[in-house]
Amino acid sequence: MKAKVSIIGAGNVGATAAQLIAYEGIADIVLFDIIEGMPQGKALDIMQACPLWESSVKVKGTNNYSDTANSDVVVITSGLPRKPGMSRDDLLHANAEIVKSVTSETSGLSPDSTVIVVSNLMDLMTYIAWKVSGFDPHRVAGMGGVLDSARLRTFVSMDLGVSPDDVEAIVFGGHGDQMVLLPGLITVKGIPITKLISEKRVDELIHRTRHVGAEIVSLLKTGSAYYAPAASVLQMVKAIVHNEKRVLSCSAYLDGEYGTSGLFLGVPVILGEKGIEKIIELELTDEEKAHFNHSAASVKSLLDKIKI
Ligand code: APR
Repeated sequence: MKAKVSIIGAGNVGATAAQLIAYEGIADIVLFDIIEGMPQGKALDIMQACPLWESSVKVKGTNNYSDTANSDVVVITSGLPRKPGMSRDDLLHANAEIVKSVTSETSGLSPDSTVIVVSNLMDLMTYIAWKVSGFDPHRVAGMGGVLDSARLRTFVSMDLGVSPDDVEAIVFGGHGDQMVLLPGLITVKGIPITKLISEKRVDELIHRTRHVGAEIVSLLKTGSAYYAPAASVLQMVKAIVHNEKRVLSCSAYLDGEYGTSGLFLGVPVILGEKGIEKIIELELTDEEKAHFNHSAASVKSLLDKIKI
């Protein structure tokens, strides 16, 4: 039997993720949104591409949560974009309410699912999805680190003129401005990046990675990045559905790992059919630990502002 993946929020990220999952034939898909007709239209459109992709998955668009029942994976991409005049805190509270309501609807219908959270502020929304679902924390994962790592790998590959496939990077900490990119964990086919380019250049690439979300927003004028976020969802869905045991940077619940407890933060994990099957703990230098702790404190201070 095919796996079932429900995507909650059929906007740019959600619909593009549905398209990628359908193209690769990984699972049957339910695309949910509160806007009437929109998910149905997008699902029908994607279904009609399936014969051309030689894919036999089913894609159903819906406004009824009951259609998401018994999903293997639930992807939460629902949320509001940041509008002019809206503070980071306003966005936080608005999306917190959305993720709370979505999770309370989906978790009972798919009690054995693994949840992937995309909505921003991602580490906090992942925490909310975990708390509201009551799921084992290993079955809830945030997508940010997969995306941040892909972004850094892209810039390193562009700089060196090598395939991005040969570049590896592990990302720690909070998604977005608070990400922790450690030069010591960036390699090109196993070669430490600092043996190939200067530390100053590495810092410049890290700086651009940290701000590329905003760079894309200012180029697009409306909306935010969605192709790479959707591709990040695809990688995580594939790892879970195909039990690939991929080593990825995901937002995971920390219970003492890296000296932190009670927070979801980006760390390297093994992702497979049981969700986050293991958090990989690395020995960090004092300076690296300080960066990580700073990022953790910043995510914690935002978490303290939300009522769950
Ligand atoms: N339930 C379900 N869907 C909802 C809800 C809700 N309560 N509230 C909003 N939505 C839907 C919207 O109708 C919209 O179709 O979520 C969708 C969001 O889509 P976009 O606005 O296109 O946003 P997108 O670019 O896909 O980003 C989604 O991911 O990267 C993050 O910051 C981004 O939080 C945002 C999320």
